[in-house]
Amino acid sequence: MVEIVKPVQMQRVVSDAKRRGKSIGVVPTMGYLHDGHVALMREARRENDIVVLTIFVNPTQFGPNEDFEKYPRDIDRDKAIAEKENVDFIFNPSVDDIYPEGFSTYIDVEGVSELLEGEWRPGHFRGVATVVMKLFQITLPDRAYFGQKDAQQLMVIRKMVRDLHMPVSIKDVPTVREPDGLAMSSRNAYLSTDERKDAVILFTSLRDARDQIAQGERSRDVIVNGIRNAINTIRNARIDYVEIVDPETFKSVEKLEDDREYCIALAVRIGKTRLIDNIFINNK
Ligand code: PAF
Repeated sequence: MVEIVKPVQMQRVVSDAKRRGKSIGVVPTMGYLHDGHVALMREARRENDIVVLTIFVNPTQFGPNEDFEKYPRDIDRDKAIAEKENVDFIFNPSVDDIYPEGFSTYIDVEGVSELLEGEWRPGHFRGVATVVMKLFQITLPDRAYFGQKDAQQLMVIRKMVRDLHMPVSIKDVPTVREPDGLAMSSRNAYLSTDERKDAVILFTSLRDARDQIAQGERSRDVIVNGIRNAINTIRNARIDYVEIVDPETFKSVEKLEDDREYCIALAVRIGKTRLIDNIFINNK
């Protein structure tokens, strides 16, 4: 495995490989890898000749009072995991290499970026779309891999790729969960032992909602209030949002219809840690 830090060098390596007819699979991450990332690397390894893992904690997707500075980082551990997964290249640039002095071009994906996470984290998806566009320009993927845990991010990226005719196939991989159901996330590292136990409510409330829908419930209010009430039994939990949305547009729905797919998405603070999760409901 080779580590590359400079964008031009990365571009040179992948351009070269493409000229030799090799396919490139890219796994964009902010590092502090967990089994969710491992699932993405394995899928990329299965489908491509060359696998590039990018590790970059992207400052433009964090708000001024968010956790950019304290976001967990452990590059040596990440390298060991990537090596074990047979990644060919790690691209690990500096902030100055990605955002040089005078940088002023951003990608705004209107609509889907403005809802849910976009409302609670203004500018977040502008930062995500911009960095993903840059990473694609630098690593030239045929395929790029993202987790379903960040379902709204996935739609923002899919829309950007579609709207801008970008020649990359976006692949999504199911959320990897801890044995008790908590979705894997680098931010789980912030949780104390008690908070870790409390955090499972994100998953159990979603799972119970799915069961309720399977038993015939179709009212958005009944389902959302059920989830809210379950989360509110946890003293340390504060809800940012719970919504049932169309999985393409992320617009909220009022009533569930048969023969349609929905996503129930939520964001909850457990103590000071903000976690998101979602579940897909297929009423087809
Ligand atoms: O999902 C993430 O880890 C990040 O949002 C991404 C896609 C790597 C962009 O910084």
